Amino acid sequence: MCWIFAYNWNKNSIPFLVEGLTNLEYRGYDSAWVFWITKGGKIFLEKAVWKVSNLAGKVELNKNKDKDYNSGIAHTRWATHWGVTEKNTHPHYSSNKRFFVVHNWIIENYAELKKDLIKKWYEFYSETDTEIIAKLIEDLFDWNLIETISKLTQKLVWAYALGIIDTENPDVLIWTKFWSPMILGIDTQACFLSSDINALSQNCKEFFILEDKEIVVLKNWKHKIFSLWKEIFRNSEKITEDFQIATKWDFETFTEKEIYEAPEVLLNCLKWRINFENKTITNETLAELWELDIERIEIIASGSSYFAWVTSSYWFRELAWMPCLVTISSEFLYDTFLPNKKTLYVFISQSGETADVRESVRIVKEKWWITFGLVNVVGSTVARMCDYWLYTHSWIEIWVASTKNIIGQLWVLLLMSLSFGKKRNLQISKIREIIWEIWELNILMKSQLWNTKNIKKLAKKYSKYKNFFFLWRNLLYWTAEECSLKLKELTYLHSECYSTWELKHGPLALVWPDFPCIALNLKWVLKSKTVSNIKEVKARNTTVLWVVTKWDKNEELYDDIIEVPEVSHILAPFIPLIPMWSFAVEIAKELWKDVDKPQNLAKSVTVE
Ligand code: M6R
Repeated sequence: MCWIFAYNWNKNSIPFLVEGLTNLEYRGYDSAWVFWITKGGKIFLEKAVWKVSNLAGKVELNKNKDKDYNSGIAHTRWATHWGVTEKNTHPHYSSNKRFFVVHNWIIENYAELKKDLIKKWYEFYSETDTEIIAKLIEDLFDWNLIETISKLTQKLVWAYALGIIDTENPDVLIWTKFWSPMILGIDTQACFLSSDINALSQNCKEFFILEDKEIVVLKNWKHKIFSLWKEIFRNSEKITEDFQIATKWDFETFTEKEIYEAPEVLLNCLKWRINFENKTITNETLAELWELDIERIEIIASGSSYFAWVTSSYWFRELAWMPCLVTISSEFLYDTFLPNKKTLYVFISQSGETADVRESVRIVKEKWWITFGLVNVVGSTVARMCDYWLYTHSWIEIWVASTKNIIGQLWVLLLMSLSFGKKRNLQISKIREIIWEIWELNILMKSQLWNTKNIKKLAKKYSKYKNFFFLWRNLLYWTAEECSLKLKELTYLHSECYSTWELKHGPLALVWPDFPCIALNLKWVLKSKTVSNIKEVKARNTTVLWVVTKWDKNEELYDDIIEVPEVSHILAPFIPLIPMWSFAVEIAKELWKDVDKPQNLAKSVTVE
């Protein structure tokens, strides 16, 4: 997974390019480079592994950095096939060194293309698929680069966002894309291209989302868009405040700041969808779903988004009496798809760009079934592909670990199940009671943000362990899985998650004093059943950290405790999130891990 930022202006491009890459940093990468070209066609390149700051340092020392460079491309690479080395970073070039190419994603037929090119005596200096594209352009070139690129795109199998520089026309940047996102930002005297709209917001007010196989030509800060050899015209869209890059305020890490924003997501996400005064649901999209003949929900997502769906499947069953099947998107792709006319296919993704979620939408759409997207990033691919969609409106979530957006996802899902419930005769009084509780929960979650002293103390103690068990029952299933995932993701410690009942079927063999159990045990969620299971664990002398409803302690059961507010079982899944996310962050800090940029991970997983 790589991220691109490109620029075409009449000023020195270097500061814009480095800044653009810095704004894309949150997406995850392990090496970076920047390439700039003068009006006379002179090329300069700087590469660095690991951090964009390493690259920025190198650029700063480069004596050519202040020359008159009007164009350039910057790129971060997240290694998929080849190691994290400067040699494997892009751009790659043609044999005659005329064409330089940068590429996101994977060309699946690269081995065959390479064989054909070798037969024509082309020599290769790397093993990358991107080098093959550079050589192919040289091979297909017939003095019209647009036509050459159109021919090139007929030959490439699968996905790309592709930038091409012809050193003989150094003031021109050419781009095309298939399946990988590419956004063109325009300002009065500049053009920018980026894999992510967030990196554009500081410099542009308008943008175009490029469609597959369109070709964009940037020259002297003007742009032209071509489709099938012909120039096309369409209106740009406006960049709104939602896209503004967030700052860290006084928080040590962005992740902590995003956790802090979690309770506020309620208002942003629900204020247009619920009338809290008269406790009614007012959303039009949900009203439109009422018109459809739907009896079943199938949910497709991955990672934390998948866990959010699992929680909602309990709500759909209990509040709307609707069967709800939840599938991990990567499995959905290769499973037998049995379309069902009365099923609403729901896709959830913070980024709206996760590769297997997007592919799953395509599969369902090909069969003409109804698709519904729940995404955070406005204008992202999943939102644009689906027949119906709702945004979580959680504001931009910058860093790798998903936190506040999960709260937004849960709110919309709860709302959907209430709305379907209403259609299927759920009592109005029950709906009003839950809406009232939602409002109250906002206040309760805010109060949880201040319990940091206890969490920090516990993190110090628990950071000495290497393994953890998260235990749960019933509706807390997803919450425990999510907390366990966050602990792994941020601390790199081993963590497993089981229903307390399931322990006896095998995992109990692992329980011993050095393997602490974190038990989520809330009032109204099979509390007494969980208590008996925790007793079995405690009898094996393990350490128990108990996440428990206030006033509901049982001294014999725990070594340590995190008290949480009392809520009904429907809202219980929300309650352990803030303390357990903070617990994971604090352990990560104790262990000197990079909380915002965990090793090996990227914010959005755009390759399968
Ligand atoms: O953008 P998406 O919601 O589709 O992303 C799904 C997962 O990649 C994501 O939730 C991932 O699991 C997070 N890093 C978890 O914190």
